[in-house]
Order: sequence, then C-alpha cells, then structure tokens
Amino acid sequence: MSSIDSVLKENRLFPPSDDFRVKANVSGMEGYNALCEQANGDYEGFWANLGRELVSWNKPFTKVLNDSNAPFFKWFEDGKLNISYNCIDRHLDARGDKTAIIFEADDGKSEHVSYRQLHARVCQFANGLKLLGVTKGDRVVVYMPHTVEAVVAMQACARIGAIHSVVFGGFSAGALRDRIQDAQAKIVITANEGFRGGKPVPLKATVDEAVAMEGSESIEKVIVLRRLENSSAAFNDARDVWWHELVEGQPTQCEPEWVDAEHPLFILYTSGSTGKPKGIQHSTGGYLLGALTTMKWVFDYREGDIYWCTADVGWITGHSYVAYGPLAIGATQVVFEGVPTFPDAGRFWQMIEKHKVTTFYTAPTAIRSLIKLGGDLPKQYDLSSLRLLGTVGEPINPEAWIWYHEVVGGGRCPIVDTWWQTETGANMIAPLPGAVATKPGSCTLPIPGIIADIVDEAGAPVEPGKGGFLVVRKPWPSMVRTIWNDPERFKKTYFPEDFNGQLYLAGDSAHFDENGYIWIMGRVDDVLNVSGHRLGTMEIESALVANPLVAEAAVVGKPHEIKGESVCAFVVLKGARPEGDDAKRIAKELREWVAHEIGKIAMPDEIRFGDNLPKTRSGKIMRRLLRDIAKGQEITQDTSTLENPAILEQLAKSAI
Ligand code: WTA
Repeated sequence: MSSIDSVLKENRLFPPSDDFRVKANVSGMEGYNALCEQANGDYEGFWANLGRELVSWNKPFTKVLNDSNAPFFKWFEDGKLNISYNCIDRHLDARGDKTAIIFEADDGKSEHVSYRQLHARVCQFANGLKLLGVTKGDRVVVYMPHTVEAVVAMQACARIGAIHSVVFGGFSAGALRDRIQDAQAKIVITANEGFRGGKPVPLKATVDEAVAMEGSESIEKVIVLRRLENSSAAFNDARDVWWHELVEGQPTQCEPEWVDAEHPLFILYTSGSTGKPKGIQHSTGGYLLGALTTMKWVFDYREGDIYWCTADVGWITGHSYVAYGPLAIGATQVVFEGVPTFPDAGRFWQMIEKHKVTTFYTAPTAIRSLIKLGGDLPKQYDLSSLRLLGTVGEPINPEAWIWYHEVVGGGRCPIVDTWWQTETGANMIAPLPGAVATKPGSCTLPIPGIIADIVDEAGAPVEPGKGGFLVVRKPWPSMVRTIWNDPERFKKTYFPEDFNGQLYLAGDSAHFDENGYIWIMGRVDDVLNVSGHRLGTMEIESALVANPLVAEAAVVGKPHEIKGESVCAFVVLKGARPEGDDAKRIAKELREWVAHEIGKIAMPDEIRFGDNLPKTRSGKIMRRLLRDIAKGQEITQDTSTLENPAILEQLAKSAI
C-alpha cells in the first residue's frame, strides 16, 4: 500500500516545455479546451468531423451515431471502408518508399519494410488466404511471434474482411483451443517457432496440441511461417501449409473488400469476472477513428517520428498501437520480437539509440524491472532522439515515473500515462502532451470527446478525493460492440442495470483530485493485473480445480514490487493437507499445471494449502481475508460471520 500512499501525496506538476507546446498537434490548454467545447456542443458533429478528416472512406457515411438499440451502439453505419487500405494503400502515392516497419529480431538483426513492400506482402498473403477459402466474416486465429508477419497476417485478414482473433504466443494449448472454439475459427496462422530471449518458443507444437483437442474441429488449415530453419515441429501435409509456399507466385495486388463501418474487424479475448474469457468484438470504422485520433493527439504524431510501442500484438495495445494506429497515420514504427532483458537490460535503450526512436510507449512493469536490473544503463546510450514517452496497462508509481522522466527522457520528454482497456479500443484518459501538465501517477484528463466520470454506487458523481466507479457517460466510436456470442453478458458487464443501463462501467475504481485529474486505483472486479496483463481470478481457480488433486481453490492478488500484482492461490486438496517437501512438490506441480492450462503469465507466485477456506455461514469465500493473509497482514476485520475462524491461522502459517 505504500505506493498508493505516495501516489495520494503526489502533487508535482510537469507542464510541457514551450517548445513542445508550440509544435504540438493540440497546443496548450486553450487547444484542449476548445476541442472539449466542440465535443460538448455537438457531440456527434465533433466525431463526424474527425471521421471525415482522418479516415478514408470508400463510401462516405451520412449517419453518425445510431443509439436505437442501446447499448449496442453503431457508428458511421452507412459508410464503407477498408482498414488495410487506410493503413497502407492511401500512403503509397506520397510515401510508398517510406519505411513503415523497422523490424528488429530477437537476435538483433534488423530489417526495414517500406509501405510499398508491406503492401505487396499483405496483398500476397491476403490472396493466399482467399485461395484457402477464407472469405468475409470468417474467423482466423493468429498465434504468432511478434514479427512483421504478425502484422501482415492481421492486415491481410482485414483486407479481405475476415475477422482475426490474435492469441498471445504465451498462452497454452488449452487457452488457444478455448478461443478457437468460441470463435469457431477456420484457420490458425502460426510459426514453427517463436524467439524470445535467445530461446525458441514452440508455437507450432502448441497449435498441434490445441487443434487435436476436442472443440477445435472448426479448424481447416494451419498456416506455418518458417521462422527457424531447423525446427523439430511436426508438419501435417493434409492440414498444414507453409507461409512461403502459400504466397509464392501470388499477385502483389489484392482489391480490398469494402466493408460496412460496423463490420467486425477483430475479436480479442480478455479476462473478466467469470472463468471464461470474453471475446471483445470491435468494429472497423469507429475503431480506426479511435486509433487515429489518439495517434494524433496523445502521441502527437508528426512526420519524421520514429514510433515504438513495445506491446505484443497479442494484446489490445499491440492491435491499436502496432498493427493499426501507426500505419494508419503513416508513421515509421519499430516492431521488436524479443524481450527487454536480452541480451541485457540495456536492450530498449540500445534500440532507441540505434533506430533513433522519438516516441516510446511501454508498460510500468517493464520500467520497474529495468530500474531494478540496471537503473544507470540508459546513461550509456544516446537517447537524445526521444521527444515523447508513454505508459500503459497499470498505474505507474511516482518513483518509476520520475526515473522514466529523468533518466530515459532526460527531463525533456512529456510522459503520457494512458488509461484504457481492451474494450475501449483506444486511449481514453491521457494527457495531450502539448497541453495538459502531467502529475506522476495520474492519467490526468479525458481525451476530448470522451465523457469519463467517477460515480458512487447510486450513479451520483463523487467529490474530489473520494473513490468511486470509473464510468463513461456517452458511447464513443472505438468502443467494444459486443461480446462475441454473448450479447447478454456484454449488457450486464458494461451497462449494468445498477446504473439504469446508461453508463459504461469500466470495472476500475478511481478518484478525482482537486484539479479534476483522474487517479486510477485498481480493479473493482475479480480481475488481477499482473505485469500489465489482465487475468481473471476465476479463470485461474477453474484451472486449479480441474487438477485431479484439487478440491477447492481461491485466488487473490498480492502487491508485487515489479509486477504490480502477483497471483496467490489458496488450495484445498482432495487428500490430506500436504506439509514440508510434499507441499513444495505439489505446489510446483500445480504451478506447472496452471502454466499448461492457461499460460506462464497466470502461474501463481505463491500457493498456500489449507484444510478448507474461510467461508461465511452461507458458504461464500471471504476473499478480503485471503487478500490480507496473502499480504502477510494481521487480520483486524470482523471475522464473526466466519463458519471456521481457526482456518485463518492455518493459512497464515502455510506460506511455502
Ligand atoms: C488497467 C490495456 C492505471 C485498468 C490497455 C484497466 C491502467 C485494465 C492503465 C485494462 C493506466 C490500463 N493506469 N491502470 N494508465 N491502463 N490500466 O484490457 O485496470 O489489458 O481496466 O487493456 O488495465 O487492461 P487491458
């Protein structure tokens, strides 16, 4: 909690320098306020103007927002476009030879891909997909290393109107199967191996395992990129297709499929309060507008920038700020396959120097771990190309913010702390860097056109300093459209009846300070944020109870210096409570089990065995007590409603 305390005391203010402000796309608070006034005055007109200015339409829209079937909102519904056309083709005349992607592989080799080359690669691959029978609306799972081909795969799907569902390469076969099944995907695109930190990642082997499982019957073909010459991965001639063979001889032109603005661009699965991940469905037109608007305002994009977002395409950040946003605005961006600590903790800084990065966007967890592994390392590199820094995914503690600002940014680069979610599609609350003075630890003010607020249980606004639910009062173009296959869950989760179905409920708690700045305090649901990755406690619990040894499990988060939060599991076995070496052995087995069921990112850091779990007389597990035990705190709360108070002591002593 000490970091939260220090956040609450934080009131240093960092206004943009005059130089930055003068050149910025949105300059000074006058600029910011003018945009907010336009949005307040004519909300739909505001977004319509941006939609016309920033997006290239094949058929212009005449309708802006359709809220007749709220909360299933539609934006620009009679407009037609193609996002791949917007990201690539429309730049060809003016910037065909400009570098679109500077790819740096795990081993340090780099490659420059121009817009024209990217166009040819996307078209060839899109033609290949068509050859395999993929048509508009089909679902395609992308399970790829973070390479140019991952972007090509996504862009090619979008080009022909297929709906991609990218699954992070760290997810297990079981998690991959669940997503294939829910989306009823026809194709998986993968690589024989991925590369991270000098080691191969057996992506194809995991796909083989997933596709062999019950539930994956919809898969017809697996496309395999030969990332590594000599891989032991199996190849099934009847089902598998080599990427290079598929594209060979394919035309380098492919007419884009003009889709309705509301046509689903992708499904991305994310964790929620139940055991089953939710398929967040995004639109084409509104989503693109969100990515473009924020590239322009939050990342203050200008010609000549070298943009680098370190997120993997497996997460929403890698969708909006790698696969789509930077290309849509015509930027040169760095795509990095590897990890920040290989070959050493200077990798990011070395790459910023090498590629002359101007705009760098990463996660607080990476910043914290790099401080720990080599807080002085940035000083060994020339980071003078940087002009803007960003963070995403979790609150940043002021200590890490100040280090990022001073040591990485040389005190001259504004930091955009961007609050948003898989569901919001684009940055929502973030300082526009040439306008809004920043405060370490606060994501500051909503982006113009985003009507964010903080309310109490009754939906009434809270006063500054008081925590409440973070909500959005009006629909916005890049918002989630529904949960794939589960519109009821969409309604209940995001537009609950508690607020008359009128407010978008983000699932975070937050408070305003006396300047109206927003401070995010954390999730209010059963979602953990481990190293900036969303994990559902129920998801990990279901994985644990699926193990034959386990009778019952409860998972809570525990504050962690680097990861932000870590996973702590309380487990009751079917047999006797294990002790000593037995307990260690079974704990190890269960951790590996979770890694196999979900992925390594969900592995509990800590497992505590008990004879049972603390429950109320009505049988409800008292998680807040478990959270205190996990933190090693003394329990001062009322435990009189507990069925079995003695269990608390046993669990408190059961750390392995
Ligand atoms: C958290 C990631 C504080 C928040 C883009 C949100 C943040 C969840 C911030 C979404 C931030 C994201 N400050 N917390 N700047 N950004 N979060 O869907 O709890 O992976 O609800 O999207 O991350 O995570 P998701």
